[in-house]
Amino acid sequence: MRLDTGAYLQTLLLAMTAYGVVSCPQGLLSFYADTVRDELRVDEGKLLVGISFGYADENAPVNQVATDRAALEATTTFHS
Ligand SMILES: Cc1cc2nc3c(=O)[nH]c(=O)nc-3n(C[C@H](O)[C@H](O)[C@H](O)COP(=O)(O)O)c2cc1C
Repeated sequence: MRLDTGAYLQTLLLAMTAYGVVSCPQGLLSFYADTVRDELRVDEGKLLVGISFGYADENAPVNQVATDRAALEATTTFHS
């Protein structure tokens, strides 16, 4: 179930990127599930992750920050 959710989430993030929409998944929102449900007037289901999304202000200082990515060898092992 969590793998399915991860695959869905990843696909949604990639689709948004393809359409020029930037996004930020936030697992921490699950710690505030009751607050989020109240705000959105939702009274069922579990909250695993939320996604903030929109169009980036390219001039905003915060959007000048770029995080590094781990090298492929650090995350993946290929077996042949
Ligand atoms: C499933 C998922 C949940 C995340 N939850 C949080 C979170 O609760 N708080 C947070 O600061 N970053 C969280 N992140 C990381 C940010 O969404 C983001 O990936 C990170 O700031 C790096 O940004 P970048 O991918 O643009 O480099 C999460 C990432 C993923 C994939």
